[in-house]
Amino acid sequence: MPNNNSLYSSQTITKLMTTEYGFSGEISRLAGENENYLIKKEDGSCFVLKLADKETTAEVIKIEHLAVDQLNEAGLDINLPRVIMTKTGSVLACLKTKDKKQIRGRLLEFVEGKAWCESLPAKVKQLEDLGKIIAKMNIVLSFIVQPGSITGSKNGSKRTHHWDLARADQHRSKISIIDNPKRREILEWVFHLYAAIVKPLLESLPQSLIHGDINDDNVLVADHKIAGILDFGDCLENPTICDLAIALAYHTLDEGDPFKAAATIIGSYHKVRALTMDEIKVIFPLMCARLAVSVIISAQRKKIDPSQKNWFVSEERAWKKLEIFSKTNPAQATILLAEKTNLAPFEDSGACVSELLKTRQKLIAPSVSPSYKKPLKIVRGKGQYLYDYHGRPFLDLYNNVCHVGHCHPKVVEAGQKQMAILNTNTRYLYDGLTEYAQRLCDTLPEELDTCFFVNSGSEANELALRIARTYTHQKDILVVDNAYHGHTSSMIDISPYKFMGKGGKGKPEPWVHVVPVADGYRGQFKGQTEDAGKSYGNQVGEIIDTIGTPVAGFITESLLSCGGQVIPPNEYFKTAFKHVRDAGGLCITDEVQTGFGRVGSHFWAFELQNVVPDIVVMGKPIGNGHPMSAVVTRKEIANSFANGMEFFATFGGNPVSCAIGMAVLDVIKEEGLQEHARKIGAGMIEGLNVLKGKHDIIGHVRGIGLFIGIELVNNRDNLVPATQKASELVNRMKERGILLGTDGPFNNVIKIKPPMVITKQDADMFIRVLDDELLSMETAPC
Ligand SMILES: Cc1ncc(COP(=O)(O)O)c(C=O)c1O
Repeated sequence: MPNNNSLYSSQTITKLMTTEYGFSGEISRLAGENENYLIKKEDGSCFVLKLADKETTAEVIKIEHLAVDQLNEAGLDINLPRVIMTKTGSVLACLKTKDKKQIRGRLLEFVEGKAWCESLPAKVKQLEDLGKIIAKMNIVLSFIVQPGSITGSKNGSKRTHHWDLARADQHRSKISIIDNPKRREILEWVFHLYAAIVKPLLESLPQSLIHGDINDDNVLVADHKIAGILDFGDCLENPTICDLAIALAYHTLDEGDPFKAAATIIGSYHKVRALTMDEIKVIFPLMCARLAVSVIISAQRKKIDPSQKNWFVSEERAWKKLEIFSKTNPAQATILLAEKTNLAPFEDSGACVSELLKTRQKLIAPSVSPSYKKPLKIVRGKGQYLYDYHGRPFLDLYNNVCHVGHCHPKVVEAGQKQMAILNTNTRYLYDGLTEYAQRLCDTLPEELDTCFFVNSGSEANELALRIARTYTHQKDILVVDNAYHGHTSSMIDISPYKFMGKGGKGKPEPWVHVVPVADGYRGQFKGQTEDAGKSYGNQVGEIIDTIGTPVAGFITESLLSCGGQVIPPNEYFKTAFKHVRDAGGLCITDEVQTGFGRVGSHFWAFELQNVVPDIVVMGKPIGNGHPMSAVVTRKEIANSFANGMEFFATFGGNPVSCAIGMAVLDVIKEEGLQEHARKIGAGMIEGLNVLKGKHDIIGHVRGIGLFIGIELVNNRDNLVPATQKASELVNRMKERGILLGTDGPFNNVIKIKPPMVITKQDADMFIRVLDDELLSMETAPC
C-alpha cells in the first residue's frame, strides 16, 4: 500500500498499471524523495514504477531510457534497470485521473541486490571495482550522444535539476537557513572552494551524459563486486567528472580514511578512463559541494516536513565528513586523491610560509612589511581570487591593481605577444604609443588631450607636481589631510598620511599646505546636507588666503582612499578648484585608486562632481599589475613643460606597456565592467547598510561603485574609532578566506576596492560572512 505521504492511491496506481502495461500487483511506496512504487506481481516478479514530476519531461525520460539501453548494450556485466515498454510500445505511461490530472511515469525492471551502504565495510576490491565501473559507464555514455545535443525539454534547453553539480552554487544563498554558525562556516568554505576552483574550470572540462546520482544507495553489491547501478532519474549532460565526484562523496561517508578510500576508487577509474589534470583538481571541491548541497536540501525539507525521516538519512553522515574535509587544505586533499594516479596536480610551491618569512627578514628591508598577523604566501591569482601555498582560495576584496581580474588572459596575452615582438622606448616611433594615448584621451574630457607615460603612481604624481610648478612658476602646493600620493621624497613631503603617520616627522616643508578632509561623517560640516561641499571647498580658499601668494596647485584624489574611503560631498571640487584657479594654481586629480570605471556611473571619479581637472594622474589599475602609469593634461600645459629640457623615462610608454594598457581598456569595455561595478557595488552597499542596522559597531557605510568603506566605531554618538576591532575583523575575515584592509587616520575603516570582476555571489558571501564574524566578535567573551 502506498504510505500516507504518497500522492496517489493504490487504486490509481493499479489503474495506471493495468491500462498501460496490462498487469498490476501488490503496490508499496519506495523510500526516497521521488514517487517510486514497488509493484510485486503474483508470480513474485517485481517492478519499479517511477512517476514523473513536472521537471521530468518526456525528453528527460527518453534520455534516461537511452542511457540504460546503451549501457546494457555495452555489456558492463552489471544489472541496470531496463525500461518496460507500455502495451503500445512507449517508454512513457500516462493516465488521466477523474479530476483531469495527468499522471506520467515509466516502469522499470526491479534489480536485485544489496545496496553499498548496507554492505559495509567495503573491501579494497570493491572500491576498485566501483572506480572501474564508473569509468566504463562514463566512456559508454560519452559516446552515445554529443555534448550539447541532450535536451531536457521541447524547447531544447539543457536539462538541469536541483542536484545538478555543475550548478551547485544555486544553493549558496540558502546557507543562512542553517542555524549552527560553525556549520554555516563550513558551507561558506565549501561554496567558496567551488566558486574559486571549480567554476573557472567547469566549461573547459570534458562534458557528457552522466548518471548524476551514483550514491551508496544506488550501487548494488554482491561478493564485493558491483552488481548493479540503479536510478538514472537524475541523468543529465554535465562535466563527466561529476559522476565520479558524486560517487566519491557518498562512498567515502563511512570510511575512516576517506582520502585513502577515494584514492583507491580514483586510481582504478583513472586506469580505465584517464583523468585530466583539471578533472583531478576539481574532484575535492566537487565532493564537498555535493555533500553541501545534500545538507542544504535536507535542512530545507526538514523545515517543510520534519517527519519524513528517510529524506534525511545521509544528513548527519554528510555533516561529519564535511567537518573533516573543511579542516583539510585543498592542495593537500587533491594530492592525496591523486595518489594512485600518475598525475601531480600541484607544482612545487617553494618554501613554506615560516621559511620564507625568515629568508625575507634576511634579504628584504624591514620597512617592507607583509600584511596580516599570519602573512599569506600567495602562489597564484585568477579573476577575483588569490590562491595560497596550501591551494586555499581567497576572495580578493582589496587589491584594486588587478582591476579586470588577476592574470586576465587577454591582458597576459597582449603583454606576452608584444614582448616577443618589440620592446623599446619613446625615442623611437611605434604605433602602440600613439594608439594607446588616443584611446586613453578618448576616455577623458576633450581638453585633456596630451599624455606622458611613466611607471608608477609615485612617479606620475612627481611629474604632475613638476609640470604644475613649471607651468605656474610657483612652488606652493595644497594637499588634503591624510592623503597619500607616493613614496618618493617629494611625494612623502606632500603626503600627510606619511609625514603625520608612524615614523613621520610632521609637515616638512613650508610650501606644503594641508586642507581638511571633506568628510561627511567626521568633518567640521558633517551635519550639513545641502552646502557641505561648498563649505569644505571654501576651506581650501581660506587656506590659500593665509599663503598670500599664487600657488602651483592643489593635488587631491577624486575620492580619498588612504584617507578612509571618503566621498567628498557635491560641489566640493567645483568650489575648491575655483579658489585654486583664482590663485593661479592647477588642479591635479590623483585617480591612481579611483579611475578606470571603478565608481560605476563614470569612468573617472572626478566626473562625479562635474569638474575637469588640469592634470589627471593614473596608476595601479592602468596596467592590471604591469608597472605603468600616466599623466594626462592640456596641450597648453604640456607645451609649457617643454622648456628645452627633454623628458625621458626609460620604460614609460614602452610598446609592451602600451599593449597591456590597451588590453585593459578593451576588457573593461568588452566585459561591461564599469556598469558591473555600479550594480555589484550598489548591492554591496545595500547589504552593508542592512548590517549597520544589526551591528552598532558599523558607524558609517559609504562608497560608490566598487570603492567602499565601512567605518567602525566603539560609540556611534562620539565616533570613538574601533581601531583594534577593525584590525581583528580584517584578520578574522582573512581566516574565512576574504581579503580586506583597514585605512583612514584611525585605521578603523574597512577598505573595499576589489578587482572589478567580483560577482553578486561573492558580494553576498562577503555580507553573510561579515555578519557572522561581527556577531561572533560581539558575543565573544572579553
Ligand atoms: C592615491 C595614490 N597615489 C599614488 C600612489 C603611489 O603609487 P605607486 O605605489 O604606484 O608609486 C598610491 C599608492 O598606493 C596611491 O594610493
